Amino acid sequence: MSEASAAAKLILFGEHAVVFGRPAIAIPLPNLRAHARVQPHPAGQPGQIEIVSEDLHTRLWLHEADMDDPLAAIVQLTLDNLAFRPDKALLVSVQSSIPVAAGLGSGASVSVAIARAIAATAGFELPPQDASSLAFEVERIHHGSPSGIDNTVIAYEQPVYFIRDHVLETFELRGVLNLVLADTGERVKTAQAVAGVHARYDANPSEYNKLFDQIGAITAEAHQVLMSGNYDGLGALMSRNQVLLGSIGVSSARLDALSKAAMKAGAQGAKLSGAGLGGYMMAMVEKGNSEVDP
Ligand code: MEV
Repeated sequence: MSEASAAAKLILFGEHAVVFGRPAIAIPLPNLRAHARVQPHPAGQPGQIEIVSEDLHTRLWLHEADMDDPLAAIVQLTLDNLAFRPDKALLVSVQSSIPVAAGLGSGASVSVAIARAIAATAGFELPPQDASSLAFEVERIHHGSPSGIDNTVIAYEQPVYFIRDHVLETFELRGVLNLVLADTGERVKTAQAVAGVHARYDANPSEYNKLFDQIGAITAEAHQVLMSGNYDGLGALMSRNQVLLGSIGVSSARLDALSKAAMKAGAQGAKLSGAGLGGYMMAMVEKGNSEVDP
């Protein structure tokens, strides 16, 4: 039996603009994870693989599955990548406490956990670069033009300063970042949020390029602040990023209300995190001040 897991992620700065080539910053959430286990199947024919996840409402046999299904896709891609043809029937089970379609990277995390568990079954330890590439292939099925930030931060499990198609820059958090997450309860697929931004960009590229440039500049400044280890000013940058996310149309009334509530309660800054239109609001707070009364 092989087991593996992968973390959730949080985008601190630069979501959406990152799809258009601007930098973004993301961190892993190591305590919130997806887990995958591969074990001999008690019933299947040799070589057949069943994938089961109660959390993700999935139960399917790989040989019958549609490759649009993200779990089937990552299993098949990993088998092909490793040229691994199991001679026994296998059961792949997935457990995840990461909320789906909430901006926390559930899809990429599940993919990385499965790819790692299958590789372990084949006797390999999957390097982060390979886990990231495999998860990226699955992300592509779901939204045409992912930047690659989710699979990268999750596979490397380190803070990243990420620019699409550039050499990856990881960094260490030198101080403690106190963040409060609040759930809007709204669930929107990344593909939908990204498609909306694309459509508005296509209608008005010069305006959107200016907005993306401003987000990129905030992200670059935030990177310097994070590298310095003195986080003064980081909250204000988050709130400025949030205003721009509102301007590109990916905030929501609930995200705005939660950000306002956090600021009223003394947060240093607040913004959505991830694709937006719902999901989680993230607020930066002083240590010990995590009470928000919306
Ligand atoms: C999703 O976690 C982040 C987005 O920027 C999309 C992407 O980067 O592919 C919204």
